[in-house]
Amino acid sequence: GIVADGAVLVRAGRIAAAGPRRTIERCLSSSTAIVDAGGRLVMPGFVDAHTHPVFAGNRADEFEARAEGASYAEIAGRGGGILSTVRKTRAAAEDTLFQSASRYAEWFLRAGTTTVEAKSGYGLSLDAELKILRVIARLNAAGRLRCVPTFLGAHETPDEYRGRTEDYAEALIGQMLPEAARQRLAEYCDVFCEPGVFPAALALRIARAARAAGLALRIHADQFTPDYGSLAAAEAGAVTADHLEMTTPAGLHALLEAGVQPVLLPASVYTLGSARYPAARHMIELGMPVVLATDFNPGSSPTASMAMVLSLACTQMKMTPAEAITAATINAAHSLGRGGEIGSLEPGKAADFVIHDAEDYRELPYFFGRETAAAVYFGGELVFSRQAGH
Ligand code: NIG
Ligand code: FE
Repeated sequence: GIVADGAVLVRAGRIAAAGPRRTIERCLSSSTAIVDAGGRLVMPGFVDAHTHPVFAGNRADEFEARAEGASYAEIAGRGGGILSTVRKTRAAAEDTLFQSASRYAEWFLRAGTTTVEAKSGYGLSLDAELKILRVIARLNAAGRLRCVPTFLGAHETPDEYRGRTEDYAEALIGQMLPEAARQRLAEYCDVFCEPGVFPAALALRIARAARAAGLALRIHADQFTPDYGSLAAAEAGAVTADHLEMTTPAGLHALLEAGVQPVLLPASVYTLGSARYPAARHMIELGMPVVLATDFNPGSSPTASMAMVLSLACTQMKMTPAEAITAATINAAHSLGRGGEIGSLEPGKAADFVIHDAEDYRELPYFFGRETAAAVYFGGELVFSRQAGH
């Protein structure tokens, strides 16, 4: 879909036409404002279909501990990890969380991302989960970054239910999940499905309750245990299975048959210092519509950069730059039920696009560690622009 010397016509926040400049120029009126991209690359904004952007504090201390040799599991075992962020997030005021999430939203924008799927999951109580979901709703209402909300109450068992995961799941199914759905604060429900976190039987019960409440499913699957979460995701009829570092061909076939979209998060593999990346090439050979996302979170993936993810996809998973960009835009949009609204520059879609300081799309993963977005438009409005010469 590359158009050399292309142009996009925007009207009332939507794309009215896209194609060769000569064709588009015929549709202009005397009042049309012209933005000259100067021969640079124009692309749809990235759609980041897996993020955890609402949390208090950060875990730079654990990052240091891992550099000194501790593992992610060891740190979690001694009360760190997800639960340390939960304690801080519970104690934080909603406005404080909104401020930190707004700061991260600007990181997404300057990285060229215009839509994020945003999960709760650092509250793990009715009040704290709703507080996080309200922050996501406010972020979306701010009108700079589109946020698709996911209820992730099943992220971990909170301190007060330690050793009683079933009882926690009961509260989640009986109160938290129905309330999040009733208040229309979530579109999706996610479960971190691992034997030692939320076992498959519980994940399936939560999945049934989620569907009954009108939520579709996204599952954290096979990050640590081969084919465990992927088989559950297939059985549950999830929209996506996310992570898939440990998935074998059997798990992949189950996902393929059930029509579950794979969401790959190579920045979390990188951050945890693992060498085991998901089998992206095998998935593509099977015809699966692969999605790439950042997994932005304070523990396993502290990056909001889709460009970083594209670089990892090309160098570590041998995706081509074109495949990686497809996975980060249109495939991701479809995974969020918004394939007709965002993810490509086509008439009728929201005018979410980015002018990159690059001439060729391959430069995005190639010059890694660099922020290329020169101007970011959301619904036709300029929401970020980099000063010339930077
Ligand atoms: O997607 N796997 C579970 N959840 C996150 C990590 C969250 C955290 O460490 O705070 C993930 O990697
Ligand atoms: Fe995640």
